[in-house]
Amino acid sequence: MHRLETARSLDPVSDRIQAVVNGLPVPRGLRDLLHGTKIGHALHPVLVQVPVGSFVSSAILDLMPGTRRAATTLVAVGVAGAVPAVAAGWVDWAQMTKDRRRVGIVHAAANAVAVGLYVTSLVERLRGNQARGRTLGFAGLSVAGLGAYLGGHLAYAQSSGTNQAAPEIVRIPEEWTVAGSLASLPDRKPAVRTVGDVAVLFYRDGDEVSAMIERCGHETAPLGDGEVIGEGRDACIVCPWHGSTFRLRDGVVRHGPAAGDQPTLPCRVRAGNVEVRQP
Ligand code: FES
Repeated sequence: MHRLETARSLDPVSDRIQAVVNGLPVPRGLRDLLHGTKIGHALHPVLVQVPVGSFVSSAILDLMPGTRRAATTLVAVGVAGAVPAVAAGWVDWAQMTKDRRRVGIVHAAANAVAVGLYVTSLVERLRGNQARGRTLGFAGLSVAGLGAYLGGHLAYAQSSGTNQAAPEIVRIPEEWTVAGSLASLPDRKPAVRTVGDVAVLFYRDGDEVSAMIERCGHETAPLGDGEVIGEGRDACIVCPWHGSTFRLRDGVVRHGPAAGDQPTLPCRVRAGNVEVRQP
């Protein structure tokens, strides 16, 4: 897996496919939906439950007598369910770092072979050739197993699709801690201060101050370099790397590719100083 993560030879192909996926005329609302912005975490792992569950169930039925029709139905459901799962996977993949994209492209290739085998299995089953359909189904499940292993590596070993900002919270002091003076914060502009050893993004609007973890939850970009859009309670910071948009007062994600909200911190002004603490 380490060799795959560091296989720079995959980058030319990966970069070309990334440009194609990012260039597709997909409306922003649909991209947000596929990233999982509407549900608060990545949508792809949710959607893959349908094909994976259907394919595994069809394999079990293929081992039992008198279940031909049910097994064929499940293969068809799995193939249909793969379509939205693939779409969500590609839009997520196109916003990943290079090392993750290397693993992701092999994950996608394995799953493409698996779905191809299941499509052929379905055709054979519908033609009445059950033995060949079952064999192709078992082959598809084996390759899908490899794809699932790679997907697991992406999620758990490479932390893809997780909120990269969430672990920062525990390093913020539990007690109220002075981050700086109110007067030192510029009005309606992002300002970064270090609290403990964590970079925190402050946004001051008059006497109101909000604070959020500065490292973007998507891929750790410095949000302090981002642009502020909107104003008042709807002011948002736009991530300088991939454009995720978070509302400054509460961290709510308005646009992906980040799927989850940006963690915010309780913030108050005491004796002219801005203080924050762990939530
Ligand atoms: S790092 Fe990707 S949107 Fe912020």
